[in-house]
Amino acid sequence: MSFNEYRDDDEIKESRGWLPTWWMVLFWGAIAFSVVYGVYMHGVEGWSMAKQYREEIEAFEKAHPEKLVALNDDGTNPYRTDAAAIERGKKTFESICAACHKVDMTGLVGPNLTDTTWLHGNTDKELYAIVMNGVPQEKLKQNPPKGPMPAHKNSLGSAKVLEVLAYVASKNPSLKAK
Ligand code: HEC
Repeated sequence: MSFNEYRDDDEIKESRGWLPTWWMVLFWGAIAFSVVYGVYMHGVEGWSMAKQYREEIEAFEKAHPEKLVALNDDGTNPYRTDAAAIERGKKTFESICAACHKVDMTGLVGPNLTDTTWLHGNTDKELYAIVMNGVPQEKLKQNPPKGPMPAHKNSLGSAKVLEVLAYVASKNPSLKAK
């Protein structure tokens, strides 16, 4: 029996034929494309969901250094007892903060950070806000004012700022956790 032929035995007409050529071309074409695409993306390009996720996280962290690490829920510095972080904080302090606060923290343009006098509070949370956001001209408390305290949230980011503050806390017990 061939296609497009009547079957007479039960009087039921059955009309059969190949699907149109355009449809078959699309069908096999789509299958061929998916194989080629899959091999290309995973084999040649090395694309994977995990890799793309990692890259997006990295890009975000680079664009938002201020969100790397946060204060603990109770407002305390997570690096307080972390010796390696304190050591990194010491290096950051010496290269960035010492210019205004002196290497030994006893103060130059910026106030002494080794004494018990704190102009803007003496808890982790208060100091974190000061170092991240800086002190703008109109909120300066040194008398006479010697200059603004710059913001460090974009230049250093949260992780380095918390390391520096853990270092300051390790030198000055009057900087309280909360
Ligand atoms: C350009 C100079 C400059 C740099 C750099 C600088 N500071 Fe300051 N800092 C100041 C000044 C000036 C003040 C005082 C602001 C005021 O008059 O209220 C201050 C205030 C502070 C205070 C508050 C002190 C208090 O008694 O309440 C802290 C804490 C502090 N700085 C930490 C840092 C740390 C940590 C760094 C490095 C990441 C840093 N500062 C970098 C100039 C600087």
